[in-house]
Amino acid sequence: MCGIVGYIGERKVIPVLMEGLRRLEYRGYDSAGVVFFRKGALEVVKTKGRILDLEEKLFEKCYVDAAAPGLGHTRWATHGEPSDKNAHPHFDCTRSLAVVHNGIIENYYQLKSELLEKGHFFSSATDTEVIAHLIEEFLKRGCAPFEALCKAAKRLKGSYALAVVFKKDPEALFVARNQSPVVIGLGEGENFVASDIPALLPFTREVIFLEDGEVAILTKEKVSIFNPEGKEVIREPVKIEWDLASAEKGGYPHFMLKEIYEQPEAIQHTSLGRINQQNGEVDFSADGLSEDFFKGIKKLFIVACGTSFHAGLVGKYLIEEKVGIPVEVDLASEFRYRNPLINENTLFIAISQSGETADTLASLREAKKRGAKVLSICNVVGSTIARESDVVLYTQAGPEISVASTKAFTTQVCMLLLLSFYMQKRVAKREPDKNELEALLSLPGILKKEMSLWHEKIKEISKKWYFAEDFLYLGRNILFPIALEGALKIKEIAYTHAEGYAAGEMKHGPIALIEEKVPTVVLAAKETGIIYEKTLSNAEEVASRRGPLIAVVSKGAEEFYKLTQDVIEVPLTVKVLLPILYVIPLQLFAYEIAALRGCDIDKPRNLAKSVTVE
Ligand code: M6R
Repeated sequence: MCGIVGYIGERKVIPVLMEGLRRLEYRGYDSAGVVFFRKGALEVVKTKGRILDLEEKLFEKCYVDAAAPGLGHTRWATHGEPSDKNAHPHFDCTRSLAVVHNGIIENYYQLKSELLEKGHFFSSATDTEVIAHLIEEFLKRGCAPFEALCKAAKRLKGSYALAVVFKKDPEALFVARNQSPVVIGLGEGENFVASDIPALLPFTREVIFLEDGEVAILTKEKVSIFNPEGKEVIREPVKIEWDLASAEKGGYPHFMLKEIYEQPEAIQHTSLGRINQQNGEVDFSADGLSEDFFKGIKKLFIVACGTSFHAGLVGKYLIEEKVGIPVEVDLASEFRYRNPLINENTLFIAISQSGETADTLASLREAKKRGAKVLSICNVVGSTIARESDVVLYTQAGPEISVASTKAFTTQVCMLLLLSFYMQKRVAKREPDKNELEALLSLPGILKKEMSLWHEKIKEISKKWYFAEDFLYLGRNILFPIALEGALKIKEIAYTHAEGYAAGEMKHGPIALIEEKVPTVVLAAKETGIIYEKTLSNAEEVASRRGPLIAVVSKGAEEFYKLTQDVIEVPLTVKVLLPILYVIPLQLFAYEIAALRGCDIDKPRNLAKSVTVE
C-alpha cells in the first residue's frame, strides 16, 4: 500500500525522505515521488518503478541538496495505472501546493466533474489529484492554507492520509487523516510525518498518532493538532520501543527469513509477560483485561483477513475446546457486508498484525455499533484497530517488514492460546492443563533447536519441487488452518498455485488434481490421536494415485516413510502447540521455493503489507 514521509527541519530533505521511503518499501508500491522547495518554488520529481529509479532521477537533476520542508510518497495503484504521471505528489493547476495521499477518495468522480466544470485541468487519472484542486478552489476563495485544507477535507468521502505543502507557506507541513494511518515523529527543532512507524525509526522514537478527522500543522518547532471542530487537541507522545536493528535484515538475505528465525523470541516475548511466574497462571492485568470483561458473553466472533484469519481459525479450536463458548470466525471483507447476529452478549475479536486493515477495522466498527465488546490482537502499538478496541492484547513480534506474515501469525496463535487458558480459568471456571502451559514456555527452546534442522531438509526437498505449478496442502482439525496458511504463503511469495484443504474433504473434489506433477504437503501429528490415523489414510489415497507426498509429521511417524522420503519430522508436544510447530516448516518451504524461483520474496508482486483500502 502507499507510503508517506514528510520532513521539516534543518537537514537536507532528500536523504531524509529517501531513507523514510526505503523503510516503507516493504508495504509494496509501484511508483515513487518527492516534493521539496527550490528557489522559492515547489519542485516535484516522480517516477514509475523503484525508489532506486527515483534516486537516479534526483541525482541526474542534482537535486540531492534540496532544502526542507518536503514530502515523499510510494504509490500502490488504485485509480489509474502505475505511471510517472499517476505517481504522487500531485499539483493543483497553478503549482501552488502539492499533495501526497494514501487511501481512496470514494466521491472523487463527482468532485472531479465539479472541478472540471470550474475550469480546473487534471494531469493524472488518480483520485488524489482532486484533493489538490479542491484545496486550490478554497485558496482561490481567499482561505489560508490550513483553512483550505480543512474545508477540502470536509468534502472528501473515503479514506485518506494526506500531507500537503503550500508554496506560500514554506515554514509548515500540513497533514490530515481519515481511516488511514498518520504518525507524527517529534524531534529537536525538526518534525516528521509518516504513514507508518518504520519510516521514522532512523530519526525519532517519540511519536503522536493522529485520529480520524484530525488535521495537524507541523513546523520545525511545533506540532499543532486540531479536531474536526477546529479545537486544538493536546496529545502526549508515545515512545516506540522497536529499535532500528529490529527493522533491518541483520545479515539475512531477506526480512522474511530473519522473521521466521525470530519466532522463538517473538513467542517468548508474547507469552512470558503474561504468565505469572509465581502461580503459573495467565494474567492479562497489565493489558487492562480482567474477568469482568467477559461477564454475560455468550458468543465470540473472530474477524480478520489473510494470515490473521487463519490464526482466528486456530483460535476457534482452542477457545471452543477450552471454554465451551461458540466461536464464529469470519473474513472481515464478508463480515462487514452481512448482517451478523450480534448483541451486547457478543465478544468481537479483531486480529490484525498491522492494526490498520480496512476491512477488519470496518468490521470492528460495525460490531461496536451493534453493541459487541471489542478485543483486538494487534502487533502495532497505537494502530487504529488497537485504539478503537475496548481491550488490546499486543503480540510482541517486533516489526514485521516482509509482506508475508510469519512471526505475526505464530504470536497471534500464541496470544489466542493464552486467551483460551485465561478464559478457561476465569470464564469456564476450569483449571487449565499445567502441562500445556509448561510446554508453551519451553516452546522457544525447542524451536531454536529444530528450525535449522528443518531448514536443511526443506532446502533438499525444495530443489526437487521448486518448478511445480500446483501444490495441495492437507491437514485436519487444528492443523487444517495450517494447511490453509501453508498454501497462502507459497502462493504469495512463490507465485505458485496452491490449495489448502481439510484432508477429509479431499475426496469431494481436489482428489481429481492428484497426479505425478502435483505434490501434496500433508500435515499429520500423532498428538491428534484418531485424526492422525485418518490423515494417514488420506495420504495413502494420494500416494496410491501416484501423487508425490511431502509429509510434515511427528517424529517417529514410520508409516509416512513407506509413502515418501520427503519427510520433515516435528518433535512430539501437546496438541495446542501443533499450529505453531507445524506452520514454521511450511513458511521455510515457501521461502526456499520462492528463492529458487527467483522471486522478490519480501515484496511480492501486487501485494501490500498493510491493506488500508477495501
Ligand atoms: O495486518 P493484518 O494482519 O490485518 O493483515 C491481514 C492480511 O492482509 C495479511 O495477513 C496478509 O494475508 C499477509 N500478506 C499474509 O502473509
